[in-house]
Amino acid sequence: MSNQNMSFRSMGRCGLKLSTFSLGGWTTFGGSVKDFTSIRSILHHAYESGINFFDIADVYAKGDAERMMGGALKELPRHELVISSKVFWPMSENINDKGLSRKHILESVNRSLQRIGTEYLDIYFCHRFDEDTPVEETIRIMDDLIHHGKILYWGTSEWTAEQIQEAMDVCDKRGYYKPQVEQPQYSLIARQKFESNAQPKALEHGMGLVTWSPLASGLLTGKYDGGITEGRLARMDNLRESLYNEQNVNRVKQMKKISDALECSRTQLALAWVAAQPGMSSVILGATNVEQLQENLGALKVNITPQVDQDLKEIFTLS
Ligand SMILES: NC(=O)c1ccc[n+]([C@@H]2O[C@H](COP(=O)([O-])OP(=O)(O)OC[C@H]3O[C@@H](n4cnc5c(N)ncnc54)[C@H](OP(=O)(O)O)[C@@H]3O)[C@@H](O)[C@H]2O)c1
Repeated sequence: MSNQNMSFRSMGRCGLKLSTFSLGGWTTFGGSVKDFTSIRSILHHAYESGINFFDIADVYAKGDAERMMGGALKELPRHELVISSKVFWPMSENINDKGLSRKHILESVNRSLQRIGTEYLDIYFCHRFDEDTPVEETIRIMDDLIHHGKILYWGTSEWTAEQIQEAMDVCDKRGYYKPQVEQPQYSLIARQKFESNAQPKALEHGMGLVTWSPLASGLLTGKYDGGITEGRLARMDNLRESLYNEQNVNRVKQMKKISDALECSRTQLALAWVAAQPGMSSVILGATNVEQLQENLGALKVNITPQVDQDLKEIFTLS
């Protein structure tokens, strides 16, 4: 399915094309949205809107996100979809059921493929860097999985510039497949860490960038201007504590004059801004219903001029 409103971008220097906006399942599918009919309608709406990239992880709802998203995606043509999953976070109490060892990665990919109901993953992410495993061990099994056809590309998530460089050096030395994509947190609220570290390194190596939490878990929609009564920040204490403060709420309020001038919502402005930053391949959305997804995809029509970019950066300063 292709939708004339959707645009597509290369994932870094490789041939794979990703929809500018994609959809992920963290805390929503199998979590805040448990009913399969709702999950199916959100995912199918995404596909019908031109989204081709669906981001999952083994750990999301302890395998349920893979099961439920896989169940809905199975009804769509597999060759049109880009499906990712991830490995690193513990899946049980067992000492080997975590991290990036050869053993855990091989067993995890098999379980992810089974839960999703697919023969291969388009992208397999190392969900963090594993300080307890030599990076060469991790890269070699990723390379093996590509040779065996279980995964097509491998990527990193929240790796630092130094860790990415170490991985590239090992790949150069041994001739292994390189990580083609990094998945960092990135939004107007979360700029500093990424812009000063992984972004320049990823660009140097031609890696694609697919970014998470573009709305800072909903804060950038403006729905918490008057306080928190419902939504993700009401449900998740850790996110509320790290994101919800006077400075962030005031900054989100200041966006309104810019979004009003552009005749879009703050949500759409925040999403369009991420998509307009250097090196972005796809901005991974989260949505708990079809209406949210529809609003979010309206970001495709928002033009971030250099002036708008500068105005937003002046509100959401790095310090
Ligand atoms: N690699 C990693 O470590 C990592 C970490 C986190 C996420 N991710 C990926 O990135 C994806 C997106 O992250 P995210 O879900 O945090 O994105 P987000 O866009 O920052 O937050 C999405 C949440 O905001 C609220 N929301 C979204 N659109 C809205 C709208 N139009 N109006 C009002 N509320 C709206 C919804 O929550 P409520 O309705 O519940 O308020 C929704 O679930 C994840 O699904 C996952 O695939 C990766």
